[in-house]
This record gives sequence, structure tokens and C-alpha cells, in this order.
Amino acid sequence: MPGEVEVRGGGRGSREPAAVPREAVVRGGPARGRSRTEVAVLGATGVVGQRLVRMLDGHPLFCLAEVVGSERRAGHRYGEAVKWSIGGDPPPGAAGLVLGEARGLPARPEARTPGRGPSLRDPVRQGSAPSLRSPVVVSALPSTVAAETEVALAGAGHVVCTNASPHRMRPDTPLIVPEVNPGAIEGVAAQPWAGAGGALVANPNCVVAGLALACAPIERAFGIEAATVVTLQAVSGAGLTGLGAVEITGNVIPAIKGEEEKIGPELNKVLGTRIEVSVAVNRVPVLDGHTAHVFLKLGSRAAPGDVARVLEDFRPPAAARALPTLPARPLVLRPEPDRPQPRLDADAEAGMAVSIGRIRAAPPPHDIAFAVVAHNGIRGAAGACLANAELYAAHHNLHAQTRRTGGAVKRAQPAGGQRT
Ligand SMILES: NC(=O)c1ccc[n+]([C@@H]2O[C@H](COP(=O)([O-])OP(=O)(O)OC[C@H]3O[C@@H](n4cnc5c(N)ncnc54)[C@H](OP(=O)(O)O)[C@@H]3O)[C@@H](O)[C@H]2O)c1
Repeated sequence: MPGEVEVRGGGRGSREPAAVPREAVVRGGPARGRSRTEVAVLGATGVVGQRLVRMLDGHPLFCLAEVVGSERRAGHRYGEAVKWSIGGDPPPGAAGLVLGEARGLPARPEARTPGRGPSLRDPVRQGSAPSLRSPVVVSALPSTVAAETEVALAGAGHVVCTNASPHRMRPDTPLIVPEVNPGAIEGVAAQPWAGAGGALVANPNCVVAGLALACAPIERAFGIEAATVVTLQAVSGAGLTGLGAVEITGNVIPAIKGEEEKIGPELNKVLGTRIEVSVAVNRVPVLDGHTAHVFLKLGSRAAPGDVARVLEDFRPPAAARALPTLPARPLVLRPEPDRPQPRLDADAEAGMAVSIGRIRAAPPPHDIAFAVVAHNGIRGAAGACLANAELYAAHHNLHAQTRRTGGAVKRAQPAGGQRT
């Protein structure tokens, strides 16, 4: 089929790497000769972008077709321009791609009008926005750049799955953890870009990703009235250039700009609750993996053993079980008195599982306390974003359309024939 992307080994025209990075191990693996949907990674040179690039290497449904960075590196080959920071090397299929450029776009009211999104292929309107051919765009842009760029891309008919914060609390933007609220993907039908075939889907903040997964089974079984959360957040959460070594080595910084105010609203949006959430955040000298101490006031009585049981019994809903990036069991219970720890537990299930331990009774006003660890760059960012792209693809039968059209799916239809 013309334009169909052939899967050849571990990347576009590359070999299967000898040591497959853990994040790249997804269920199924690419099938030889099978078409995959092309994906563009925005912010591809950053901490999260690098993880997206690695996770797309050998992905069974998607193939990395385009990489976009800042104007500083535009025009350079990815393998030469990226300061690779996540172990190993950039996948060969990505290393040869030439970096495109993303920059903030001027606000364009028409981008919010159904069917009248700006065409990024129009040179007059294009400005400095990336001109992309990939139907799916996964974004790891800084929030300042993401705000306009992502809207413009959705308006141009791209399915944009974002890690960035600006659109998470928009009423029309689904904020999704697929194991918790996969049905929220239906919300794209009401978005202003639906007429153009575009969509904008967000994953929550890297703390909320783990917190929502840990709290969802508890909330469903017993209800949660209030939560107090104290975080110990890894330095990689600040991005590649976010923190200087002198600032954080041997130190704890008891504040992260803009972080505390995101956690309560995002947790409630994912869970569909109105939990009263109090938060204190800390940056700690840990490379990867955010830890959170969580104290919950429950709606009904439950002993620590009851809470452990609902967490142990939790299984993702069918819509999430089908997604290749997600593990069959996203919650790992640690019975040891000194676990979870980020160094030992952040990589559980290739970084996609959330580890929970120290489940115990808490004094009033709380009932239950526990500690949770989640990999901020994988479960909290790249893996979360990719799983949302998989969820969208499954819901809209994107893969079948890719086979028919050879990649350029511009007017995605929901699986089952009706527009959502
Ligand atoms: N790190 C985490 O654990 C985490 C977790 C959840 C969500 N997030 C969110 O994910 C996004 C990316 O975070 P990160 O940690 O990967 O950040 P990062 O390491 O600083 O990477 C930022 C990326 O954006 C590009 N960029 C920077 N300034 C730009 C500009 N003016 N125009 C266009 N591109 C620009 C960078 O390109 P150059 O290399 O060319 O500068 C780089 O590719 C942020 O919105 C962040 O809040 C991060």
C-alpha cells in the first residue's frame, strides 16, 4: 500500500537493538510487514522526549516519524543534537531523523473554531509551528510553548497527546490515566477541533499519575473525603536543565514552583471526585522516581488489611488491558517495612507500575496512610502520554485507518462507526 510504513527491526530501517531498553519492551512487539501509525515527538531532546523516543522504538502500533525540538537544534540530526541522558544510546532509527522546530505561536482565535483550525501547511499562517505529517503527536514541550503549539496542531487535525500542564484543567480536555478513567476519551468529540479531526488529550502531573492509580481502588471501595500528600520528587522531574548540581546535591528543596496547586485539582479531575487535598512538595537528590506519603480520610471504615486487599485485587478495565504500554498489574504492593524506594521500585514493570507500601492506620483526622513510588519520567510522563495515544487509537480504530490511508489519518472516526 502506498505510504504504508513497514516495520523493519528496532526502528525505521534499523536493526533490533542487542540490549532492548526496558521502556521499549511492550507487549506484542512490532510484527514484520505490519503498518504502524506515524508519530511525531515534540520536545524530543528533553528528558521526557527522550523517553518517548525510546518507547516508540519497536512499538507495535506506532512508529517514530518526526522529532521536534527548539530552534536551537532545528535542522540537526537527532543523534548528534540530543544530549542523551537516560542510559544507552538513542535508537538508530531516531538518530538519523532531522529535528524540526517548535516555538510558541501567536494566539489565533480561529484555532478554537470547529473546522477552522489553522493549517500548519499554509506558509502564511504557519509561522514557526512545526509542519508535521504524522497524524499522532506526543508532546513533551515546556508549558510556555505547549499552550499555543498544541492547540494549533489539534486545530490542524492532529491527535495531540500532551505531558504539558496548560490544557490539563480545560473542561474540554480529557485528563486521562487509562486504568482509572478510560471513558474520558469520549470527551474529544466535544472539542473545538473535532470537526478538523484533531484532538487534545492530556495526562496528569507526574505525582498525580501515581497518586490517582493508588487512590482509585480505595476511593471506589471506601470513598475518600480528604487527602494529605507530602512528596519527595526526583531531579529529572525538573527537566534536563532544570536544576544545577550545586543546588540539589546533599540537599532538599521544600518547594517546586507551580506544583502544589496542580495536584489536588488534577487528582479530582481524574477520579471524578471532590476530595479535599492538602499538599507539600519537596525536591530531593534522587535521579528518577517520585515518592509520596499519602494520608487519607476515608468515607467508610476500613482497616489497613482491607485497603491492601483492594489494591492487591485491582485490575485495569478492559479498555486499558488492550493497550501495549500498560502492564497487566499496574499496582505493586511492597510488604517490606522500608519499601517502596525510588532506586529499587521506580522501574517496576518497565517503569509503568506504581509501588505502594507501608499501608497502616493513621491517627485522626486521617484513617489510612501509605507511601507510593512512581517513575516520574515513564509512568508520570512518557508512558502515560503514549498510553493515552494508544487509548485514542484503540477508540478511533486509528490503526485500521492508517492501513487504508497509508499514514495520513486526518479525520479519525471512532471505532464502531459513530463520531464520539
Ligand atoms: N520531567 C518529568 O518527569 C515530567 C513529568 C511530567 C510532565 N512533564 C512535562 O513534560 C514537558 C517536558 O518536560 P521535560 O522534563 O522533558 O523538559 P526538558 O528536559 O527541559 O525538555 C524540554 C524540551 O522542549 C524543548 N524546548 C525548550 N524550550 C523550547 C522552546 N522555546 N521552543 C520549543 N521547544 C523548546 C527542548 O528542546 P532543546 O533541547 O532544543 O532545548 C526539549 O526538547 C514539560 O511540560 C513538563 O512539565 C515532565
